[in-house]
Amino acid sequence: MEILLKIIIFGSLAVFAALFVFSLVIFAVHHRTGGALFVPTPKVMIREIVAAIDFSFFHDIRDIGAGDGRFMSAVEKEYGVLVKGYEINPIAFMLALVMLWKRKSSVMFKDFWEEDFSGADCVYCYLFPDLMKRLGEKLCSELADGAMVISSNFPIPSWKEDRIIRARDTIFDDPVYVYIMGRHTPEC
Ligand SMILES: C[S@@+](CC[C@H](N)C(=O)[O-])C[C@H]1O[C@@H](n2cnc3c(N)ncnc32)[C@H](O)[C@@H]1O
Repeated sequence: MEILLKIIIFGSLAVFAALFVFSLVIFAVHHRTGGALFVPTPKVMIREIVAAIDFSFFHDIRDIGAGDGRFMSAVEKEYGVLVKGYEINPIAFMLALVMLWKRKSSVMFKDFWEEDFSGADCVYCYLFPDLMKRLGEKLCSELADGAMVISSNFPIPSWKEDRIIRARDTIFDDPVYVYIMGRHTPEC
């Protein structure tokens, strides 16, 4: 009984300490993430995206705010193409390194707002509503016509999507917006 009590107390302390450190990290990077917390896209949604889009068509795919790297890993696994990721949360970044250690795709510990995406022909993101207008302006000024932008959950204001992907028959049926630059975006 005494051992069980010790396990419960130390287990609770460990969980509390982990949550405390996680919250501190989120607080520390908030000025860069602008509310886009580390919340991974559900695996069923990733599977649906990877099944719906033929990524072998692209030469330069970026995941901006890569989280634990699950999108990057799934795309490389399915299509054999590499994805470049950016992540600013150190915990998520380390999880991505672990997720990708057997893959050739690479994740950088870097603020994606400081990066130029001119060379990219596909950009994937799952961010936060407050950021989407600024992101639309950035992508508009950097991506070439024909490039694809995929945004989980949050649309880019004033852009018209090419299509919306949903993982049906599951609670994770949030919309995934797919845009084609030049075809569905306003003049930049
Ligand atoms: C909602 S999560 C999505 C993670 C992953 N893309 C996925 O779909 O599972 C958003 C991620 O973007 C990262 N992020 C937000 N702003 C960033 C920035 N300016 N530079 C790099 N990463 C950023 C956050 O740290 C967080 O891990």
